[in-house]
Amino acid sequence: MRFPQGLMQMRRYATAVTLRQFGHTHTQTQTQAITHARRGTEATVVRTLASSASPLPELTQISDNVQRGNYAQLNDKDVAHFEQLLGKNHVLTEDLEGYNICFLKRIRGNSKLVLKPGNTQEVAAILRYCNERRLAVVPQGGNTGLVGGSVPICDEIVLSMQRLNKVLSVDEVTGIAIVEAGCILENFDQRARDVGLTVPLDLGAKASCHIGGNVSTNAGGVRVVRYGNLHGSVLGVEAVLANGQVLDLMSNFKKDNTGYHMKHLFIGSEGTLGVVTKLAMLCPHVSKAVNVAFIGLNSFDDVLKTFVSAKRNLGEILSSCELIDELALNTALQQFKFLNSPISGYPFYMLIETSGSNGDHDEEKINQFISQGMERGEILDGTVSGEPGKVQEIWKIREMVPLGLIEKSFCFKYDISLPLRDFYNIVDVMRERCGPLATVVCGYGHLGDSNLHLNVSCEQFNDEIYKRVEPFVYEYTSQLKGSISAEHGIGFLKKDYLHYSKNPVAIQWMRDMKKMFDPNGILNPYKMLN
Ligand code: FAD
Ligand code: MLT
Ligand code: ZN
Repeated sequence: MRFPQGLMQMRRYATAVTLRQFGHTHTQTQTQAITHARRGTEATVVRTLASSASPLPELTQISDNVQRGNYAQLNDKDVAHFEQLLGKNHVLTEDLEGYNICFLKRIRGNSKLVLKPGNTQEVAAILRYCNERRLAVVPQGGNTGLVGGSVPICDEIVLSMQRLNKVLSVDEVTGIAIVEAGCILENFDQRARDVGLTVPLDLGAKASCHIGGNVSTNAGGVRVVRYGNLHGSVLGVEAVLANGQVLDLMSNFKKDNTGYHMKHLFIGSEGTLGVVTKLAMLCPHVSKAVNVAFIGLNSFDDVLKTFVSAKRNLGEILSSCELIDELALNTALQQFKFLNSPISGYPFYMLIETSGSNGDHDEEKINQFISQGMERGEILDGTVSGEPGKVQEIWKIREMVPLGLIEKSFCFKYDISLPLRDFYNIVDVMRERCGPLATVVCGYGHLGDSNLHLNVSCEQFNDEIYKRVEPFVYEYTSQLKGSISAEHGIGFLKKDYLHYSKNPVAIQWMRDMKKMFDPNGILNPYKMLN
């Protein structure tokens, strides 16, 4: 641990975090809930079901409120067909709750069939058959999505990508890795690290989410400020179209200007245009030196000044710039006693990470950045560490923030891009609007990418708060020309609000594209587009 002598009170961490990967996946309670739900024993964990048009009471089936599309009904002959294609073990007809319930436990579908193909050809055969039969399908990765995109809304067949989980190659010379879509992000990263590379994407759900799910949502996470988003890192994809055609857009090069860049259509299209089965990822080298600072600040104005200073002074080694407000931090600390924040009592906290190739140089830079910030009175206190265990502990605090908010409460979650100068105002505005109806209104997120996670939690789903926050939050964002989804996507929960971020001509082109790729609308219906 290093910090400028005399300037900062260094606080030692009293406890080590013992639960490995705790912050990377569902909380223990949630994991249990989801595991139980998978066994079909805990249907009551579904607290509420939200249709944006009209919220439903607890435990109501979503299909009660959504007009089922004109799809065929699954029958025994279909199941027998799939059993023959995939083998009985890979065709599930029982204990499907875990596949039917979304991570936030807001949506529960009613699928009667989960298919687990083992290779691209099997995915192709499934879709060809479903397209001919007009059976609707929802592609599912790790089911960690936060907008209800990965679960059935009515009785769609769940196409689970779990078995396509191999890292096919990692080339340490070119930095290019070829991986199947169902590979868990953390496993993929571990394989890359074996040869000194790393996956340029990191997010709190990494122990559960799939790389194919990440690509399909164009997931952001905590390294976008350094490596950009997946449109830059994904060099190629293989996708199976609704009619079963395999579209091979794999590439081993950064540069390829041979016509339309079709791979981009599958990055962020949330399983509505095709099923991603394989991809090529450009992986950077693991940084030799990583330092993390966790600092306390008094005002959002100081946060902005510190961000500008970080860009100016840390420049090429800046690899993360995250913001957590006091309520978000305190909620996590209250819920997870094993977390130990090095500082407390500030309205704002920033987690700033540097990654570089020269430890001494980087330490000097980050220490200087902090001492200058302290001299100017912008940074009030904090800790900085380059020791891997401590770095992980600090990251754990950030990763547990979203889970703290849903541990015991219902949470309305918003994931918006806003101009930096207006970044935090919405949190105060929302506090005012919700008053005592909400237990916590807080903001955190990827400040370095202008991406705010605004969260409003309450004991349970509450119609009154719901009306106070939606569509207000989308109107507000739209007025500032922000995005109503910075990284989580549109899925089911936000589909009625797409027009706040896309104009009618753009939406019509999206519809036309959907029609061209999937004329029968079998792929992930009820999502993204109304
Ligand atoms: P799923 O949830 O299974 O699916 C998401 C969408 O992609 C669905 O529409 C689904 O149909 C589609 N899909 C999945 N696999 C495929 C495929 N192979 N082909 C076609 N379509 C497919 N997101 C961020 O962007 N940044 C974050 O920092 C972040 N942090 C998170 C932290 C926590 C604790 C949690 C629970 C979630 C977080 N998320 C974050 C949201 C989520 O993890 C990401 O959206 C992730 O990319 C979803 O991956 P998945 O495999 O779980 O996909
Ligand atoms: C995060 O940055 O923690 C995720 O996007 C999840 C969330 O918004 O809660
Ligand atoms: Zn995020």
